[in-house]
Amino acid sequence: MKIIEAIDYKTMCKMAADYIITKVCENPRLKLGLATGGTPLGIYNTLIADHKKNGTSYQWVTTFNLDEYVGLTGDDPSSYRHYMNHNLFNQIDIPLSQTNIPHGDVQDLEQECIRYENLISEHRGIDLQILGIGNNGHIGFNEPGTSFNSKTHVVELTSSTREANSRFFNSVEEVPTRAITMGIGTIMKSREILLLVSGESKSNALHALLNGKVDESFPASVLKTHPKVTVFADKEAVACLKVFR
Ligand code: PGA
Repeated sequence: MKIIEAIDYKTMCKMAADYIITKVCENPRLKLGLATGGTPLGIYNTLIADHKKNGTSYQWVTTFNLDEYVGLTGDDPSSYRHYMNHNLFNQIDIPLSQTNIPHGDVQDLEQECIRYENLISEHRGIDLQILGIGNNGHIGFNEPGTSFNSKTHVVELTSSTREANSRFFNSVEEVPTRAITMGIGTIMKSREILLLVSGESKSNALHALLNGKVDESFPASVLKTHPKVTVFADKEAVACLKVFR
């Protein structure tokens, strides 16, 4: 696992965005795995600015998002489909038909998980997956205790995750209790992974990742067994590491 420290969040986003842009230029048909939440927003803004200024094209790129809330339609402002359309897809030249996010509003959730897993396989897997990390080490919505072999599945969200995500809703009660997420096994099949860690609130998680053992009680620890992971972390996130060093 390679670690790149950035002086601040903006620089971290620029470095990660430049990395993604290079990969898209090298392979215009890149299969790109995407994440939601607060951390990737600066990256998406940088990708949009670059697209407008330099014309980097996403016309042939296919994207797969990590997860979606159960029970929200794609036009619900709190859905991850809405987040992605609003914060990235509608501002670059990717056809929406090439953007994939699990459907959280279907009757048969198990069938949807199988469909999504198969869809990724039919595209011969993800070339580059972007990940954030939860305070409890979750990746996607894979909460502590999730099997490292898991495929796309339905999860019950922990109260800490619902609390952390309540900032995107009017109240914590509005945060759905379930989600569909790519499994840890699905994520690990990606050929390359970028993990983004920003802010003081994530420094304990980063410390646990770097110094703890590989164990299902801390989902992100599995990344230490992947051959090609780069961690981009800002100064606030690495601050606590300096104390431990
Ligand atoms: P955040 O979420 O980027 O909003 O902190 C990351 C995560 O929970 O995976």
